[in-house]
Amino acid sequence: MGEDRQNVIIINGNQCAFEPGETILEVARRHDIDIPTLCHLKGATPTGACRVCVVEVEGAASLMASCVTPASAGMVVHTESPKVVAARRLVLELMLASGNHNCTIRGADDGDWTAMQLKVMQEDQAEVLCPVWGDCRLQDLAFRYQATAQRYDRAETPYPQELVNPFIVRDFSRCIRCGRCVQACNEVQVNNAINFGFRGAALKIVAADDRPLRDSDCVFCGECVQACPVGALVEKGVRYRVRPWETTRTRTTCSYCGVGCQLDLHVADGRVVRVTGAEDAAPNYGSLCVKGRFGFDFIHSPERLTKPLVRDGDQLREATWDEALDRVVQGLAAVRDSHGADAVGVLCSARITNEENYLLSKLARAALGTNNIDHCARL
Ligand code: FES
Repeated sequence: MGEDRQNVIIINGNQCAFEPGETILEVARRHDIDIPTLCHLKGATPTGACRVCVVEVEGAASLMASCVTPASAGMVVHTESPKVVAARRLVLELMLASGNHNCTIRGADDGDWTAMQLKVMQEDQAEVLCPVWGDCRLQDLAFRYQATAQRYDRAETPYPQELVNPFIVRDFSRCIRCGRCVQACNEVQVNNAINFGFRGAALKIVAADDRPLRDSDCVFCGECVQACPVGALVEKGVRYRVRPWETTRTRTTCSYCGVGCQLDLHVADGRVVRVTGAEDAAPNYGSLCVKGRFGFDFIHSPERLTKPLVRDGDQLREATWDEALDRVVQGLAAVRDSHGADAVGVLCSARITNEENYLLSKLARAALGTNNIDHCARL
């Protein structure tokens, strides 16, 4: 069946069918044509704030932000024309100059770090460049478009870093005001804890009357951290401790509740150092709660039980699994035989798998003969 010519646009010479209401960006992505974005957050209302996604539309008076421009029949679009590339480079240079973006693309021809980079490191009290070096969308795009930001002086940021929060460091000097964190908080998680505050050069993302996150409605789900394309929002535990290329990722299922959120464990030296939500997988599509994202200390806790313990009088001592399981069998059988099966109860856990909970249900009902089975979310 031939395509409906009414609903076709041409992108870089390719005929691309579109659905009514789709933006140029959506059509391009559906046809595997890459248009870079910065402020665009999947699942949220496009804002057109950053202008990185501009494209040239033949006949249009100016470049257009593809994330907010609806496709219309017959459009002829160029995504990497000289005009587009120059505009993107300019936008990126201005962003690089808007704060402490001290990654190497500032163009140190002699190979040394520049005075600006050294000054920023002093402010950061760190001996390495930006904490998200190698994991920064702005840096990636600066390399791609060879934006060096040497043309503009760096703007000083009037706001100090916010280090008091339990899980998140806010570094306003690295914020590019893309608004992704605001959308992640207000549109994706619907926590409404942060928003834009102040005006002009003083613009800042604020929480609860410009108080730290810990004193606001923030629930530390970390959705904003995952949405931040630069180093303005960083997990406290990983900042300046581990570089992204030192980690490997393992996809797994969160063990905190029965929703089954998919997450990626970032592992360095055999230790989990960071957790991010899997953006391409149901049911959470990148979102996590505070426990799923930040509650992984227990994995390497020295207090964690690694061997079974049995009680001898007032003392607990290590035992083999065979001995411990024998004790359990004897204890349960003794209670059941002397007081009846309903004298026994079984507590499962929301932190084990469905299969394990199913087996416990079988153990309670079929083996022990009781329907006293429940779960405790805190186990
Ligand atoms: Fe379109 Fe930012 S991604 S304006």
